Amino acid sequence: MTNAIPPATVARVPIPANGVDYRNKIVLAPMVRSGELPSRLLALKYGADLVWGPETIDRSLIGAERRINPRNGTIEFTRMPSNGGRPDKPTKASIIYRIDRARESGRLIFQMGTANPDLAVQAARVVAADVDGIDVNSGCPKPFSTSGGMGAALLRTPDLLVSILEALVKEVGEPFKIGISVKIRILSEPDATRALVSRLVRTGITGLTVHCRTTPMRPRERAIRDQLRMIAEICHEAGVACIMNGDVTSRDEGLALMTEYGVDGAMIATSAETNSSCFRAEADGGAAPWREVVYEYLKFCLEVENRLGNTKYLMNMLIPGKNKEFKEAKQCKTYLDICRNLGFDDLVPAAMRVDEILDLSQKWESVPASAPASAHVNAEAPEGKSKAVQHAMESEAARAAGGGAARSKAAPAMPNGCGPIRRTSVPEQKVKVDAAQPAPDATVPPVEAQTQAQSQPQVAV
Ligand SMILES: Cc1cc2nc3c(=O)[nH]c(=O)nc-3n(C[C@H](O)[C@H](O)[C@H](O)COP(=O)(O)O)c2cc1C
Repeated sequence: MTNAIPPATVARVPIPANGVDYRNKIVLAPMVRSGELPSRLLALKYGADLVWGPETIDRSLIGAERRINPRNGTIEFTRMPSNGGRPDKPTKASIIYRIDRARESGRLIFQMGTANPDLAVQAARVVAADVDGIDVNSGCPKPFSTSGGMGAALLRTPDLLVSILEALVKEVGEPFKIGISVKIRILSEPDATRALVSRLVRTGITGLTVHCRTTPMRPRERAIRDQLRMIAEICHEAGVACIMNGDVTSRDEGLALMTEYGVDGAMIATSAETNSSCFRAEADGGAAPWREVVYEYLKFCLEVENRLGNTKYLMNMLIPGKNKEFKEAKQCKTYLDICRNLGFDDLVPAAMRVDEILDLSQKWESVPASAPASAHVNAEAPEGKSKAVQHAMESEAARAAGGGAARSKAAPAMPNGCGPIRRTSVPEQKVKVDAAQPAPDATVPPVEAQTQAQSQPQVAV
């Protein structure tokens, strides 16, 4: 075992003027689907120090158009579908990446999937002025990624990985004054990891994250931490920050592991997917009950007009699997349905507005009295109304009569109970239905690499 160098004596690569220092940070991992803007805002709300966006493939970003959403001020990178879209529908731009500069400023790391220095540089230039760092994914084991030479395939082509990092440092990091970092996995032979990391830290990067699993390891397998001290030491000798990843389940645990292994930061993925309040220290209240977390999440989704399919994806992770709301949430086709099913009546006006913006209001089975005029044109009032719509109508009628919401349920106080990680998650203790039953095991395997097209309608502004 090597002795960690005392922090006072380590060299430090200077932090670029517009970049971030990765040291002493508990951070949200890059996660395709689970790392979209509302999830990142949720993690930040609960105390994440930095957030990584989901891996975005270089080619998907090159040529993207940057626009500001006038309703909420978010930056949207969009592009028209390359196949021209469906002939029976107006072609709409897809949102490739969305940033909330007001709330993510100083804390957002953009992660890229790439296997080509030129494409990496071209893509990074598109977002560099709007993010605080650029990270290269060199750990994704999925064929989608590795077949194109990206992700974990780069661990086997270190010359290429080094050339990508050097190009990014010189062509993007330096002119934009932001840091470049890389996320790798351990190799099965410690000497091979040592050789690789020794090369990577000399490329000019400011941070290196190590996912403590080898490429063939599945997420269910426990992370292996016996190479961590060696990796941290190599990073420190070069002045590069080292972030550990793999089975970190909370802020407090991350801080303890940082001390134990001499690393500079800790990154959380699946535990944040299960309960994003894992970023809150015990001293500050610790993990929040799922209902509160889902409520906050939905608020962010509505604020940023998140694509419904993506909202439901993470919501289904956040709601314990055996819960009645879990089953109902899966069926919802509109934000209005979701808010009604979960009893978040105060979010109904925003839900209706966003349903309109996202062209979902025609899926309302009936139209609440206060819905915008256009919604009434689309929908007839059927005899059998859904529970959600009935609630909405009752509530809206009560509001119109000056009585406020007919059924106003703020997120109730619940006992703390952060589901640890999805594969071992335990039930919440005082939820309404089926709380005693264990959450099912993961049914959705992690997807480490996909292009992040949000496939969202372009809203007339
Ligand atoms: C849904 C999901 C999506 C992921 N997407 C990415 C990704 O885009 N880029 C990446 O480097 N890793 C990705 N990962 C891997 C995580 O960032 C992390 O390395 C891994 O889950 C181990 O951390 P954990 O033990 O805290 O879950 C993803 C993981 C999950 C569960």
